[in-house]
Amino acid sequence: MTAELAGPGAATAPPWLTSVFDGDNAAEPGLPGSAACALHSRSTSAAAARDFTARILYGWGFAHLVPDAQLVVSELVTNALRHAQRDGFGPSIRLRLVRNRSHIGCGVSDGSERVPALSPWSDLSETGRGLHLVDALSVAWGWIVTADGKVVWALFDSCS
Ligand SMILES: Nc1ncnc2c1ncn2[C@@H]1O[C@H](COP(=O)(O)OP(=O)(O)O)[C@@H](O)[C@H]1O
Ligand SMILES: [Mg+2]
Repeated sequence: MTAELAGPGAATAPPWLTSVFDGDNAAEPGLPGSAACALHSRSTSAAAARDFTARILYGWGFAHLVPDAQLVVSELVTNALRHAQRDGFGPSIRLRLVRNRSHIGCGVSDGSERVPALSPWSDLSETGRGLHLVDALSVAWGWIVTADGKVVWALFDSCS
């Protein structure tokens, strides 16, 4: 892990991840070590993202990462649907999984430029828990501002 990946939340994306997500296009899903899935339906997107994540990670031989990765993509997709929609963007979002030698990355794109923000922790609050979960289960997470919105990403150590 590089120094850039240390620390809680809002990390700077490593260049190998930025190069995949910057200018990402779901119509070109064939990047090596990468798989993309377009999500359109508000009611089924989180489940579709979890299924896609399990299928791809099993296929890549990272079955041990499936439970944590499914939880994280579920939170990121739910956030993209909920918060980007509040900003006036539709339910069309994209999930991409990427691997390199030591990490698996997941990234969820939406059209809003508003960025995620960890809420202060409260035992009593029913909201504001999703990014704390992402923070706890991933080795780093953050966002990349792109030409058409942003990608919120999280990384998992594929060797652990
Ligand atoms: N994709 C996103 N687009 C815009 N804002 C976001 C996005 N994801 C998260 N946020 C912001 O970060 C806050 C914290 O997110 P989260 O911890 O998942 O809590 P919750 O979704 O319950 O509000 C959200 O309330 C929202 O303001
Ligand atoms: Mg949330």
